[in-house]
Amino acid sequence: MARIVGGITTSHIPAIGNAMMEGKENEPYWKRFFGGYEPVKEWLADVDPDIAIVVYNDHGLNFFLDKVPTFALGCADEYHNADEGWGMNMQASFEGDAEFSWHLAESIIGQDFDLCTCQEMLVDHGFIVPMALMWRHLPDWPVKGIPFAVNTVQHPVPSARRCLALGHALRKAIESYPEDKKVVILGTGGMSHQLQGERAGFIDVDFDMQCMDSVISDPEWLAGLSTTEIIEKAGTEGVEIIMWLVMRGALSPDVRLVHKHYHLPISNTAAGVLVLENAPAA
Ligand code: DHB
Ligand code: FE
Repeated sequence: MARIVGGITTSHIPAIGNAMMEGKENEPYWKRFFGGYEPVKEWLADVDPDIAIVVYNDHGLNFFLDKVPTFALGCADEYHNADEGWGMNMQASFEGDAEFSWHLAESIIGQDFDLCTCQEMLVDHGFIVPMALMWRHLPDWPVKGIPFAVNTVQHPVPSARRCLALGHALRKAIESYPEDKKVVILGTGGMSHQLQGERAGFIDVDFDMQCMDSVISDPEWLAGLSTTEIIEKAGTEGVEIIMWLVMRGALSPDVRLVHKHYHLPISNTAAGVLVLENAPAA
């Protein structure tokens, strides 16, 4: 059977992609940020997953504002980077696993979540930056990637509670896949950030800390906040944090905290990294 080895939270902003492309990891602005990923890479090398489900939001690339699915699952064997030009200039495609994706879709839709299934899906920085943060040091991607898009761009966006519940459904879906596969789930985006308007650059460290603690040990707290409350506390784009709850909902109630790192600012954002190891299914 497939099993979930754990979950990771990570920022996905395009500036990180540019820094990686330009080899700026050791420059003063970036050094501490990238240092926060060394334990993540070690843990990944240790658990050696076969599949990465990347929960991210499309930023107007594959879905423009005229058609925005609330939840959309990649069901293809290959995905191409087509970021808008201000992110990573990376031509590489990503291998998917359509058979695994269709199993997820069958199971999750069977649990009453109405997903959009995508047999073609272009991916942007929300997907490629996290993939590169985890595995760019290797000659090939060691995992198959499954893009799982959550609308955090066009209101109404799904509630935090709905995202946590989707994670619960995702867990059942993964754990009912008959083949032995090790799966890691990446919850991307966050933390505090507001990219425009009078509050541009707004960051609330206390709220970010509460969010990290909640995702580790009390996801119900974050799930209990309304979209408006999250935006007030974390900024308009800070609502991306709901994607962490999809990841968290797929893990066991008690997880082992392997690594925690927080850094700001990166662009106009605060960047939070968590590695949570899942308890095996009972
Ligand atoms: C930035 C952050 C994002 O989440 C994003 O999708 C694009 C840009 C930024 O802070 O620059
Ligand atoms: Fe974003």
